[in-house]
Amino acid sequence: MEFEPLHEEFGARVSGVDLTGPLSPQLLKELHKAIDDYSVLLFPEQDMSDEAQMRLTQALGEPEENHVTFGRTGEIAYIGTVGNVIDDDTKRDESDPHTRSMKGNNLWHSDSSFRLVPSYVSILHAYEVPKQGGATEFVSQRSAYGRLDPQTQNEINDLCVLHDYVFSRTKTAPVHDNHAASLPPIAQKLVRTNPSHGRRNYYVGSHARSIIGWSGIESRKLIDELNDLATRPEHRWSQRWSPGDTLLWDNRCILHRGTGYDADLYRRNMRQSRVRGAGPTLEE
Ligand code: OGA
Ligand code: MN
Repeated sequence: MEFEPLHEEFGARVSGVDLTGPLSPQLLKELHKAIDDYSVLLFPEQDMSDEAQMRLTQALGEPEENHVTFGRTGEIAYIGTVGNVIDDDTKRDESDPHTRSMKGNNLWHSDSSFRLVPSYVSILHAYEVPKQGGATEFVSQRSAYGRLDPQTQNEINDLCVLHDYVFSRTKTAPVHDNHAASLPPIAQKLVRTNPSHGRRNYYVGSHARSIIGWSGIESRKLIDELNDLATRPEHRWSQRWSPGDTLLWDNRCILHRGTGYDADLYRRNMRQSRVRGAGPTLEE
């Protein structure tokens, strides 16, 4: 594999690997190390399929079931549509409830940070992309933690945060009652440590609701400051998708968001799967 940096703080474009081919133990070891080191990995020109994406997902760990399908219906699905082209191949327009609920992805977030065992990595593959818009932006909460002064780092190191999907997502669209009931707020560590190299990051985003033991006012002040520090424009890297791009990101330390596109005009057909994290963050 060859790595070409995407941003000075994180990310690499990776060439010399076919993610749909055999995934040897050596290749998987190198992939895990690259996730630890770069946080975001872009693999262009992958001849992906749902089957190949699931093989890759399973090879990297335990697949995480899609919480939207599971919460609403109790059915387990490991791969889901991102964009406005659903399984029957029809394009949904701006007014479609699915398109509207997807707009929650345009708030900075870490996938599944509201689950007891949050996600390790997400894998997103692009099949069809809009001519205009539809980029996905990324920032590193590891580099953001490094920008805090040592006193602030000390003050936040042992705090815990409630993450709440209903809190964040009702800002953009209603959350189905079954789905809301399946996702009670969950406490997470505010500061996480990568188990391989020991570097720390904070872990917030739009699902972070409040600091445990703090007032709402004080909670929002700190969480908003941390989100603002992480997401300043100079710290962002933007993925402008081409069909065939497969992107992996480390949800333990990365925040991402969609930037929007016109669903009335364009098709955006992408597939996402996730690998479950190692355990509850409070036990890390
Ligand atoms: C996701 C996500 C943003 C986008 O797939 O988890 O947040 O640009 N996607 O679609
Ligand atoms: Mn997401």
